Formats: sequence, C-alpha cells, structure tokens
Amino acid sequence: MQKIVVEGGRPLNGEVRISGAKNAVLPILCATLLADGPMTLRNVPHLHDVHTTARLLAELGARVGDGGPGVVTVDPTSVHSQVAPYELVKTMRASVLVLGPLLARYGHAEVSLPGGCAIGSRPVDLHIKGLQSLGAQISVENGFIKARAERLRGARHVFDIVSVGATENVLMAAVLAEGRTVLENAAMEPEIVDLAECLIAMGANISGAGTGRIVVEGVEKLRACEHSVVADRIEAGTFLVAAAMTGGRVTLTHARPDTMDAVLDKLKEAGAELDCDDDRITIDMQGRRPKSVDITTMPHPGFPTDMQAQFMALNCVADGVAVMNETIFENRFMHVNELLRLGADIRIDGHTAVVRGVPRLSGAPVMATDLRASASLILAGLVAEGTTTIDRIYHLDRGYENIEQKLSGLGARISRIG
Ligand code: EPZ
Repeated sequence: MQKIVVEGGRPLNGEVRISGAKNAVLPILCATLLADGPMTLRNVPHLHDVHTTARLLAELGARVGDGGPGVVTVDPTSVHSQVAPYELVKTMRASVLVLGPLLARYGHAEVSLPGGCAIGSRPVDLHIKGLQSLGAQISVENGFIKARAERLRGARHVFDIVSVGATENVLMAAVLAEGRTVLENAAMEPEIVDLAECLIAMGANISGAGTGRIVVEGVEKLRACEHSVVADRIEAGTFLVAAAMTGGRVTLTHARPDTMDAVLDKLKEAGAELDCDDDRITIDMQGRRPKSVDITTMPHPGFPTDMQAQFMALNCVADGVAVMNETIFENRFMHVNELLRLGADIRIDGHTAVVRGVPRLSGAPVMATDLRASASLILAGLVAEGTTTIDRIYHLDRGYENIEQKLSGLGARISRIG
C-alpha cells in the first residue's frame, strides 16, 4: 500500500498549473454517449476516477482513445450495451451519471445502484424522481436501477433538494426529450455550466445553466464536438490553502477565479493577499499566520463542501477559534480524528466542529478516509513539525493529479513510498 511522507515547516513559493476539473469531466464523459460521432475532450486530468469512467464507457462498447497528454477521445457509435455493472459502479458512484444519457439515447438502461461512501449514504432518489418526471418507468430491483422510456417527454421538475448529480443526470436526459423541460431548484455549480456548454456545442438547446432554473428545448439528436474541461476549482482551492497555511507566495495558472468567490473571500478573511486575473490567482501571506475563519458549507455559490476539510486544516493552525458547519453530507468530519493525532484542538457537536488554532502541529502517521480528507492531512503535514506519513492514499489519486509533484515544485518536502 503506497503512502505519502511529508516533512513540515517549509513555506510554499512558486507557480503551479491547475488541471481540468474532476467533477466536470466525469459527467461530460458520460454525456459523450449522446453524440452521433467521436468526441474529443481536452484538459482532461490524469485521475483514477477518469480511468474508471473510461473503463465503464468501454464496457458499454464505446471506443475510448488516448489523444495525447490531457486529451481523451470517445466514439459512442459502437455502444452495444446499456448495462453499467456493479463491479465498476461500486468503485465510483459518479457512474450513475450514465443513466440519463443511456435512457435518452437508447430508451432503456440498467445501472447498478451505487453504494454509499465514507462521507454519506449518497442516495440517488432525486435522480430517479427527475427522470420519472420526464416519463421514464423506473424500478429498483436486485441492486439495479432499471429504466425504460419509449421517448422522454419534456416536463417541469422541481428538485426536492439541490443535487449536483441529479441535476446533471436529468439535464443529460432532457436534451433529447420531446418538448420543453424546466428544472427548478437545480444545482448551480460551475461544473454544471461546463457540462451545459459541452451539450450546447453538441447541438443541445439549454438556457439558465448556472442558475436554479434551467430550461431545455429537446432536439432530435446531438452531434460530436470538441470540448476543453473547465479548471478544477477544488484543486485550486486546495493549493491556495496550502500557501495560506505555510505563509508562502504561490501563483496558480490555468485557473478560473470567477468560479471560486466563496473560497477566495474566506482566504481574504484569513488574511491572505490575493491578486486575480482571468486565469491566474496569486496568493501572498507575507509570512503571516492565517486567522481563523468560520465556515458553513452550502450549494454553489455558497462555500463548497469539497473545501471543508482543507479549511479545517487551515483553522487547526490559525490564530483564533473557528466554527465549521457541514450541511451537505452527513459524515464529512472523518479527517477530524486524524487531525487530532497531529495535535489539533477540534471538538465536534453533530454537524458542527469548533476548531481552536494551535501554534504548531506535530507530525505522526495518519490515515486517509476519503478524497478531500486526504488532502487536508497533506496540508496539515506541510506545517506539522517533523514527519507526517499518510496511509491509504488511493483516495487521493481519485481526485488530484500528481499532487506530490505539484507540491514539490512549490518547495514542499513530500514523496510517495511503497
Ligand atoms: C457531487 O456529488 C460531487 N461529485 C461531490 O464531490 C460534491 O461534494 C457534491 O456534488 C456536492 O457539491 C461529483 O460531481 C462527481 P449531491 P453528488 O447530489 O452529485 C443528497 C468530491 O470530493 N442526495 O449534490 O453526489 C446527498 O446525499 C466529491 O469531489 C440525495 O439525498 O452530490 C447530499 O446530502 C465528493 N438524493 C446532497 O444531496 C439524491 O438522489 C448533495 O448531494 C442525490 C443526492
């Protein structure tokens, strides 16, 4: 089992390139199933979840090709199966995003129920209700979601709660449905905007993506296109927090600051100096210790739940006391026990954590439990005295491209062993 070893105490300085967004490329790879020819995707991050999705598309019969660094081609014209097997879906719940495209394109689909994961039960009832609004007959049996529809019909649908995946699945079904679909209480994440931009380039008629009300006029078919994946705002936020914690000066390139208002505002509140233009962000702490910042996670444009663990690491060494509320997932504080091993002062009360900043953490062996928790442990290791060893880093490789190389390039003493 591979581990990451970090020697703390070095401020980060320099420039790092931000990769394409995991949470945009996964739904967009699923959307390629809607095209009538080979698609080319650029700025695709080299991630385990991307490989898993490529394997799933190949399992369905699509021809998936490596078009060179950061380029993936998908030719869906050879798809011969509409069944997404448990073996693949259980390793990555985003596989459920093939349901909408398969149903829209072929009129039927069978997708294994994705298991829960460490951060929560992660049900898919909102996906199913949304597709049923478009006229799909859906049953759940033997661990599979079985969906059928002669032709999906446009409809008005109000999501009970805001859901990124459900919005994406229903949007990808609606683009080929007959007539108009209006999605209310839709998720507004930048990754949904990127998915919509790709679908529009394929010939879909979508307006309102990025707002809570998305309107889709169904079309007969979608053509292939080329699409460059939007920058990963969570990877970007993670590196900015690393700079803020270590008191350094870091510039991110190929970033999208316009998708990161809530995170950038919290970094300013923590005392960071930020300089942004269209695709670059420079953070400078001038050697200062960050100030504690209160966090409440919310759907976009609120503070992203995927940045909660990283800001908890910052609050562990910040000047002051922070109150952190996790409102999206029911079990997203598993990094707390590991941070406590490094000497943090954190008290949990239900969905709220109170974090009292300590002058320093001390390195120790810790264990990653989920993707963003892994990142928070690396961040803590960057400032802890001595050596921090992080186990079970397969979680990390799902969502961060070459993170130890990128951090080493900024001056961190970090390596992968085993
Ligand atoms: C997406 O997950 C992201 N994953 C998550 O990123 C992210 O944390 C989450 O959105 C929230 O922003 C991808 O895009 C691949 P939701 P998703 O549906 O779509 C409940 C990461 O670290 N819910 O918006 O699964 C759900 O349990 C990952 O990159 C239902 O109840 O999230 C949660 O409490 C982690 N029924 C809330 O809604 C449903 O049918 C929001 O979940 C669907 C969701």
